[in-house]
Amino acid sequence: MTHPIIGWEQKTAVPNNHQFNDYLQVKNGRLHLHNLDLAELMLSGAYPSPLELIYLPLIRQRISKMRAIFADVMDEIGYQGAFLYAYASKANVAEEVVRTTLEMGVHHEMSSTVDIDIARLFKRRGVLADDKYVICNGFKPDGSVYADNIVRLREEHEKVLPIIEDLTEITPFARAEHTFEVGLRQKSYGDNATTLAEMDACNSRFGLNSDGLWQAAKTIADAPNLTLTLYHAMVGSQIMDDDVFMDRIAPGIEFYGRLCQQHPTLHIFDFGGGMPVPMTLNFDFDYRAFVRRLLTKIQAVCAHYDIPEPDVMGEFGRYTVTEHGAHFFKIVTAKDNGSPLPWYLIDGSIMTSFPDSWALSEHFIVLPLNHLDKPFRQVQLGGITCDSDDVYPPKPSNSPLFLPVDVDDLYIGFFAIGAYQEMLGGVGGSKHCVLPEANELVIDDNPSGDGYTFQTLPGQTHTDVLRNLGYHRA
Ligand SMILES: Cc1ncc(COP(=O)(O)O)c(C=O)c1O
Repeated sequence: MTHPIIGWEQKTAVPNNHQFNDYLQVKNGRLHLHNLDLAELMLSGAYPSPLELIYLPLIRQRISKMRAIFADVMDEIGYQGAFLYAYASKANVAEEVVRTTLEMGVHHEMSSTVDIDIARLFKRRGVLADDKYVICNGFKPDGSVYADNIVRLREEHEKVLPIIEDLTEITPFARAEHTFEVGLRQKSYGDNATTLAEMDACNSRFGLNSDGLWQAAKTIADAPNLTLTLYHAMVGSQIMDDDVFMDRIAPGIEFYGRLCQQHPTLHIFDFGGGMPVPMTLNFDFDYRAFVRRLLTKIQAVCAHYDIPEPDVMGEFGRYTVTEHGAHFFKIVTAKDNGSPLPWYLIDGSIMTSFPDSWALSEHFIVLPLNHLDKPFRQVQLGGITCDSDDVYPPKPSNSPLFLPVDVDDLYIGFFAIGAYQEMLGGVGGSKHCVLPEANELVIDDNPSGDGYTFQTLPGQTHTDVLRNLGYHRA
């Protein structure tokens, strides 16, 4: 198997106009994100290093792209249901990110009680539209703050849709004064289950086995204020092989067919999150081919069970926000130290900025912002912390990292880090080796259609870090 390609892999300069992927391109030795000269942001001195980049147009683009794929395939195969795009907000809950997704008119998926407060804020600001579902995943036993908060949100928003993961979760909604559409989550995540029996037996804390699903559906049908609307069948994360993806999801589609025959109020098949995304440069997953296989399979099952073709929902977390996030660092020094490869030390931390790289050996794209028209050499990156794990490529990795030999005013960017990394590393607080958080630069298309808007969100000062650790107390 080929290794993840994380950047330029040659000693020669990158040719002018080289396109790394559909948003990163080289022009005159500098890296551009769409039309934005990334080197200029740093070299002009307008923004301090390190800098976190939040580029909102890519979020809109990704949503539009997936909608176009579904529309195209539905048209091609004559699919009767609708496509419902939901943003899985756990991937990145920053205000500007969630606002951007809601402004695109997507449905909103969440996992815990503070998420409800966020939905309420957007509802009151008129950003969460009345007809958008708020899909409440996550554990919500009777009496939990989350369950109570979901019930209260229903007073303001009709389309609140709790997903039942456990039989005990039905009670707070059945007892509520309002009506609720509800969903059921199938137990299947984790193991490579490709039959109903394997799904039922898999080692997963999520969802209900088939007996539980039938029982829950009956309890919901017996509750006068509840309507069974959605069936959720998330089977894993980043499954790059669409044969494997289809094998795992097929038993859930079959089960949907049987359940819908008995409970015809069901009309949404939700395949959950887990859609693979390009975090490196050799990503090879054909979204259209997958969507075609998924919808064709659903059509066949519906024909077999003589039920209507459902609306199909995807809960796109990583897919929505991976690419809009980047993080820039300056190379503060190149140090040979008698190591097999020279160390390029950056003015920030890899392990705290991208925890998945450290904890899961996840790869991200790393490219220089300038000096792309000069010779490269293979290097290793070191963070500014004193932690031996603060390195990149991650341990272990077969992916070579090449960067320019000339380190004079050299800036580099980590790309495709917009999903989960900031949420896992935490926002605010104090970080490893007391490194302050970087400033953030939020870039969006100018509403006039000409150029961009720039908004800086300040990072942490030394005083912020000290206060956070209690040093303001006498
Ligand atoms: C229920 C549910 N939906 C959606 C997602 C989002 O997954 P992804 O970010 O892979 O799209 C997750 C991720 O864990 C999830 O648990």
